[in-house]
Amino acid sequence: MRLPFGIELLDDYLGGGLDKDTINLVTGRSGKGKTILAAHWAAEGARIGENVVYISTTLIKKSCESYLKKMSFMEDVFDRIHWRFARIEARDFLPLSKEKVDDNIRTILALDLEEVDRVIFDSITDFDKALADPVLYRNALGFVAELCYENDMTAIFVEEAPMLQEWGETKNIAESVIFLELLKVPDGFERALKIIKKYRTSHPLNWIPFEITDDGIVVKGGRLAPKDFDFVHK
Ligand SMILES: Nc1ncnc2c1ncn2[C@@H]1O[C@H](COP(=O)(O)OP(=O)(O)OP(=O)(O)O)[C@@H](O)[C@H]1O
Ligand SMILES: [Mg+2]
Repeated sequence: MRLPFGIELLDDYLGGGLDKDTINLVTGRSGKGKTILAAHWAAEGARIGENVVYISTTLIKKSCESYLKKMSFMEDVFDRIHWRFARIEARDFLPLSKEKVDDNIRTILALDLEEVDRVIFDSITDFDKALADPVLYRNALGFVAELCYENDMTAIFVEEAPMLQEWGETKNIAESVIFLELLKVPDGFERALKIIKKYRTSHPLNWIPFEITDDGIVVKGGRLAPKDFDFVHK
């Protein structure tokens, strides 16, 4: 079973949406459209009657209402999403244990976990910042992922990709990874996303161009291909 974004072309490319009961990663640098993309997925879940929790560690309620609520795809469904505005503090999670992570996530969700269909953690980078240790971060995410699997919650982890350093390991625990980027084109820049991986699915490997408008993310047809190439199959 697939859980769609409600963005037709993207859902097609993903074979219908994200796979039920999986952990998925939306990643990219600041301002690339991660929150809007995750919000589409939340809105579509609510629209088709699923129970959706959106945990935001970056927005406050007021900015969420003046920002996401104003986008046309949120019309009618904003109030059906369970919004949770949380601050991730190291002291709530240390010393790190599965019990501690479970307790805190349950407190933040404030719902019976069995009832939750879709959950978005925007962003898990705040765990990274709070725990300030790559091993602790990896373990904490592993515990969050386990909690999702145990309760059949399908999740999107939103992670801010580092500007310069190597990517983190979150992509390894996710069953799909969508990367958002700005690409240099002849007359400036174009937004594009790439499905880095998605288990069980044959998906496009190229960059997929999109726009952000008041209607949210609009995926354009076609692909962005490099002008030159390094290899050719002979
Ligand atoms: N109504 C709109 N019309 C056009 N573009 C918009 C609109 N709203 C937002 N944007 C674009 O989307 C960007 C922000 O998208 P989004 O909040 O999803 O980014 P993000 O990747 O989550 O970034 P952050 O690092 O801030 O969390 C803005 O910087 C702007 O370029
Ligand atoms: Mg964001």
